Amino acid sequence: MKYFLLVLSCYFALAFGEDYAANIHFIVYKDNVPFNLSDTASGNPIEEGLCSADDQLAVVVYGWIESCSTGWMVDLISNLTEYRGGCIICMDYGYYAEKPYITYPIILTQFMGIRDVLHQEMEDLRTFGFSPSKTYMFGMSFGAQLVLQSAELLTNKIKEVDVCDPAGPGFVATPDPRQAAENVQCVHTSVDLGTLDRRCHQDWNMGHCGLYQDAAKPTLRDTGNHATCPIFYNSAFRNDFKAIPMPLECLLPQALDILDFLTLTPCNNYPTGFKMGYMQRDKQGVCGSKGGNLYAKTTANYPYN
Ligand SMILES: *[C@@H]1O[C@H](CO)[C@@H](O)[C@H](O)[C@H]1NC(C)=O
Ligand SMILES: *[C@@H]1O[C@H](CO)[C@@H](O)[C@H](O)[C@H]1NC(C)=O
Repeated sequence: MKYFLLVLSCYFALAFGEDYAANIHFIVYKDNVPFNLSDTASGNPIEEGLCSADDQLAVVVYGWIESCSTGWMVDLISNLTEYRGGCIICMDYGYYAEKPYITYPIILTQFMGIRDVLHQEMEDLRTFGFSPSKTYMFGMSFGAQLVLQSAELLTNKIKEVDVCDPAGPGFVATPDPRQAAENVQCVHTSVDLGTLDRRCHQDWNMGHCGLYQDAAKPTLRDTGNHATCPIFYNSAFRNDFKAIPMPLECLLPQALDILDFLTLTPCNNYPTGFKMGYMQRDKQGVCGSKGGNLYAKTTANYPYN
């Protein structure tokens, strides 16, 4: 018992003494070249001449075991640079995300600490002058949960959030994702690592009902269905993943068992040619205020549409 209490108190000392802000860094990308805000005196990208206050702002967050240099993140930053411009910032929480001994159950215990740093940085960026109505955030997996749950705490709601396969394991009874921004688009690709929640303004069920992807062959990339999400999202900058009617296979008992189809609100009245991803502008209001489910075909090979 004594030993148990000692371990417990050590754990709490560690958890509560942890200086999350000191271990998390924000990297500004100017023409794809990184500038680490932690290495600047002010931490303010406007004051440092890296961005201007009337810029559009993009803040992107990777998942567990990834980094700002992960392949899809480099591609995403390059696509945002090309198609959006403005100020592009990646959150570097490698101190928590990349260490080999930081297993998934451990990083889950750090979630709120990391989320609060992201939340504070977003408040700071607004104070520096960036407008919430020109702000976009993107997150993948654990990073998707960080984005959704930090954005919904903001004093001023931001314009848009796109997330890729928000992490499922460890995230039960999460807040309403639609509170995170004026428009929240969630792209779903996996049954095991992604959430089965479908409560965003637009929930894209990619490939096989958002549960499985043909692109997730072991020969292609090294990971499964979950990892295809940001690859599809990047491809969608140039290639269209258009909305299709709900595939019949989504009504198969297997899919019915996994997804709660009673809560799968269909999105019927989307405009012709409505497509998944950043390049579909003016998403707000499509599928209605309660949101709805959309479906898009995916294939095994690039461009996957
Ligand atoms: C940013 O700077 C901090 C402090 O100098 C450093 O610990 C961190 O690794 C840097 N991150 C990147 C991605 O350069
Ligand atoms: C956009 O993403 C694709 C991967 O889908 C990548 O090949 C490309 O270099 C990225 N950047 C631009 C500007 O196309």
